[in-house]
Amino acid sequence: MDPLVFITGASSGIGQALAWRYHQAGWRLALAARRTGEISQWAQARGMPVERWRVYGADVAQAESIVAAGRACIEAQGVPDVVVANAGISVGVDTAVRADLDVIARTYATNNIGLAATFHPFIDAMVRRGSGTLVGISSVAGIRGLPGHAAYCSSKAAVTSYCESLRGELRPHGVRVVTIAPGYVDTPLTQRNRYGMPFLMKAEDFADAAFRTIAAGRSYRVIPWQMGVVAKLLRVLPDPLFDRMMAGRPRKHREPGHPREGGDPELPPPEPGSPGFPPPRE
Ligand SMILES: NC(=O)c1ccc[n+]([C@@H]2O[C@H](COP(=O)([O-])OP(=O)(O)OC[C@H]3O[C@@H](n4cnc5c(N)ncnc54)[C@H](OP(=O)(O)O)[C@@H]3O)[C@@H](O)[C@H]2O)c1
Repeated sequence: MDPLVFITGASSGIGQALAWRYHQAGWRLALAARRTGEISQWAQARGMPVERWRVYGADVAQAESIVAAGRACIEAQGVPDVVVANAGISVGVDTAVRADLDVIARTYATNNIGLAATFHPFIDAMVRRGSGTLVGISSVAGIRGLPGHAAYCSSKAAVTSYCESLRGELRPHGVRVVTIAPGYVDTPLTQRNRYGMPFLMKAEDFADAAFRTIAAGRSYRVIPWQMGVVAKLLRVLPDPLFDRMMAGRPRKHREPGHPREGGDPELPPPEPGSPGFPPPRE
C-alpha cells in the first residue's frame, strides 16, 4: 500500500502545495481544513483520482473537532506515515486593545493547541507500530519577538519548543518529530503584508524543500536556507541593536474593522523623529 500523509490547512497556501508534492511522489492524501469544498474542488481540478485522497472537515482550534478528524482518518485510510500540523493564523495584535485578547486566545488555540490536537490521535498508533513522522510548521517569526506581532511570534516560539520536547519523548519509540520554520512563502497569509519580504519563495518550491526535509527526518530546518542564516544572526543580535532595527518597521495587519487598523484612531499619530515614526525610505 502506498504511504499516507495527513495534512492540516490543506485548503490553501503551504498545505495545498505540500499535498500536491506528496501526490506527485505517489503518496495517498488525508486532507483537513474547515473549507472542505475548496480542497475537493482543487483536487478535482488537478485531476487527482478520487481513491488517492480524502477530505476531513475540522476546526483545529476546537480540539475535539481535529481529534475526531484524525480518528476518522485512521478508520478510513489507516495510520499515516507522516502527519503535518500546518494549519495556522497570523494576525497583528495590540495588547492595549481589549478585543485583541480574543485574537491572542484564538492564535494560541489554532497555532498551539491545534497543533498538539492534530498529533494526539496518531501518537499511540505510531508508537505501537514503531514508526511515523510528526511535522510541526513553525516560523522564523518565532525566533525573536517582532513589534505588533506578539501573538504570532510567541505562538511560533512555542511550536518550536513544543516539537523539541515531543521529539525527545517519541524518539525512543521510533517516531520522528520534524520542525520546519518557513521564512516568507507566497500564500494568502503573506499577500496582505505591508512590508518587504526577503527571500520570498513560491509555495511549490517551499513544498519541495519541506518534502525532502521530512523524508530525511531532519529535526529542525529553516526554509529557505538564506533565512536560516538570517535566523542564526537574529538569535545572537544584542537587544538594543534588534530594537533599533525594528523601530518604525511597518506592522502586521490587524483584523478588518479593527479600531486601530489603518489610522489608529485611538492613538495620536507618532511625531516625526519619535520611536514609532517610520524612517524616510532610502
Ligand atoms: N506563508 C508564510 O510566509 C509562512 C511563514 C512562516 C510560517 N508559516 C506557517 O505556515 C502555515 C500555513 O500558512 P500559509 O501561508 O499556507 O497560510 P494560508 O494560505 O492562510 O493557509 C492557512 C491554512 O490553515 C487553515 N486553518 C486556519 N485556521 C484553521 C482552523 N481553525 N482549523 C482548521 N484549519 C485552519 C486554513 O484552512 P481553512 O480556512 O479552510 O480552515 C488554511 O488551509 C501556518 O502555520 C503559518 O503560520 C507561513
